[in-house]
Amino acid sequence: MSLIDLRSDTLTRPTASMRAAMASADVGDDVYGEDPTVRELEERLAGLFGHEAALFTPTGSMANVLAVRTVAGVGQEVLCEARAHIARAELGAHAAYTGITMRTWRHPRGGVDLDAVREMFAPDMGPFFVPTAAISVENTHNFAGGTLLPLDELTALREYADSVGAAVHLDGARIWNAHVATGTPLADYGSIADVMAVCLSKGLGAPVGSAVIGSADAIAESRVWRKRMGGGMRQVGILAAAGLHALDHHVERLADDHEHARLLARACGVDPATVQTNIVVVERPDAAELVAAARDRGVLVATVGPTTLRLVTHLDVDRAAVDRAADVLAGLLG
Ligand SMILES: Cc1ncc(COP(=O)(O)O)c(C=O)c1O
Repeated sequence: MSLIDLRSDTLTRPTASMRAAMASADVGDDVYGEDPTVRELEERLAGLFGHEAALFTPTGSMANVLAVRTVAGVGQEVLCEARAHIARAELGAHAAYTGITMRTWRHPRGGVDLDAVREMFAPDMGPFFVPTAAISVENTHNFAGGTLLPLDELTALREYADSVGAAVHLDGARIWNAHVATGTPLADYGSIADVMAVCLSKGLGAPVGSAVIGSADAIAESRVWRKRMGGGMRQVGILAAAGLHALDHHVERLADDHEHARLLARACGVDPATVQTNIVVVERPDAAELVAAARDRGVLVATVGPTTLRLVTHLDVDRAAVDRAADVLAGLLG
């Protein structure tokens, strides 16, 4: 019996047709700006989100670090939600490379608490307080359970940020899920951000690849910093081809992952109406024991906190596997 792996949507393996697209990709040295497939992907991503330019990166973490550093620098701060990936899971990279600090608000769905943002915002008062340079949002929000940030809340944040001269960064690692779940055009999400990061290697199923998206100046700066950080890649069109293939074939199918997540939620005793995309979060004091018990029965789930289980649906878990996992989980958790 094969294992059903629900630990993350990063676990997908490239499909046969994705591998074929990679194998036949036209390539060149991308540090010289001569890889046509990378350029095609970057132009496509910039266009989808209504920005001037994009930069291919190996990881979403690097894309976030590069993106945030275009809007905040040494001795400045970024405000974000307490469980944001940039604050919790990028291992201090923003402090180490960019010299920024972060302060956080807490929102039950990982969303924007505009009152808290207003209260926290710090103008530049010279040698007294850390000035707020940017506000960062994550859509969908990973650790809150794949939750959606409604466009009207993002628009209100954008207006507030403009009124105080702060920038907005969007961690859109799973913006594709938000787009499919809500029907909101990608360009509308792009319009609320000065700079953003997206991932091709999560629900879209590419083996590697993310991007920074923003103004031509921000991307030119990011290109220099990517090289400085050791992220200048050469004939990387073979990876960009996987990203282009994913954009062509794996966006609309995310709706299946969302339906699968709701089925799993029901099996775990979680109200499916609270599951908005492909991530189910279950609070259980015995989370670690449950991970072991599910593994013994052929289902891999993760913990993202001492009492928090996380299940993520993706391309490599079809309906039959979801039904089998639901049986196992209902027996353990239902
Ligand atoms: C919301 C979010 N942002 C950024 C990242 C970072 O992506 P990577 O693992 O490619 O560095 C992740 C990874 O899971 C994520 O969930």
